[in-house]
Amino acid sequence: MKIFFFTGKGGVGKSTTAAASAWQLSHKARVLIVSLDPAHNLGDIFGVSIRNGKKKFSKNLYLREVNLQKLSREYLEQETSVLSTTYSYLKTLNLDTYFSILKYSPGIEEYALLTSIEKTIRDDADFDYIIFDTPPTGLTLRFLALPKVTITWIERLIQIRRQILEKRYTIHRIRGTLSSEETILDYKEEDDNILKRLRKLDENYHALDETLRGSDCRVILVFNPDILSLRESQRLVEGLRELGLPLRLLINNKLTEANRDMARHVEEQMKKSAGDVLLERIELSKILLDGKKGTLYDIRENIIPGSW
Ligand SMILES: Nc1ncnc2c1ncn2[C@@H]1O[C@H](COP(=O)(O)OP(=O)(O)O)[C@@H](O)[C@H]1O
Ligand SMILES: [Mg+2]
Repeated sequence: MKIFFFTGKGGVGKSTTAAASAWQLSHKARVLIVSLDPAHNLGDIFGVSIRNGKKKFSKNLYLREVNLQKLSREYLEQETSVLSTTYSYLKTLNLDTYFSILKYSPGIEEYALLTSIEKTIRDDADFDYIIFDTPPTGLTLRFLALPKVTITWIERLIQIRRQILEKRYTIHRIRGTLSSEETILDYKEEDDNILKRLRKLDENYHALDETLRGSDCRVILVFNPDILSLRESQRLVEGLRELGLPLRLLINNKLTEANRDMARHVEEQMKKSAGDVLLERIELSKILLDGKKGTLYDIRENIIPGSW
């Protein structure tokens, strides 16, 4: 399975090129395209209405739009339920209050998105290609950074938890046998649910991090021949480099006779920032999408290199 992320500034044509690429690939393979952008237009592009779940567009092509609000709520509900079973002493606290505050916590949307990506990669592994159409640059960089950030945190928490268990063990040894009214707190690592949960999370995030860094995951950057899109693309390139996520394809979209010089300038600048990355060019077409099933698009059909 190959995973593509279409990234770039709003309006440059991420959704359009992602959709056209999905269409192109679906002629020879099974493809799922997932819109992660809260401002969805995948349904509009394909001229169908996408509700919950996957929508079959053609024999080999499925569409999905992720509802970020619903996803964040589900993510929180699931985490709260795990909290209340793993950390039994929290039952004495009012979890509902906790939940309503957490709702406003920074990072929830990013975690919800990442969890949804992880779930898609796991549950839809029978597709040959999964194409993610990403939300605005800032949010995209934040959720792509999460596995690394989270692993750092979890590993620190594991250390702290082990220290707690060691201290409990010391206390246990000093005190000796307890009376039947006293509770014995777990002190063995293999009995401790919290440590088990931390280790499981650590494993999951390492696996996800490896998938995102692996050669089957390809980040594609779409831009236009204009300075604003160039600047944002350069920031994205820098962000991806810091995260160690390789950029595999640049798409210079909406080219015309009139913007040819600017297009050349922007490409040169992008080469300087991104190095030797494959480049595709797409003309601005007047009759891009007509939204009717099967008549997708008088757009270039070979955006994705044949060998991918
Ligand atoms: N090559 C192209 N030719 C003509 N119009 C295009 C082209 N690429 C994108 N567009 C148009 O530009 C607008 C923004 O494209 P969209 O794919 O929604 O951008 P993004 O997903 O990056 O926000 C849409 O109206 C789309 O139809
Ligand atoms: Mg879009």
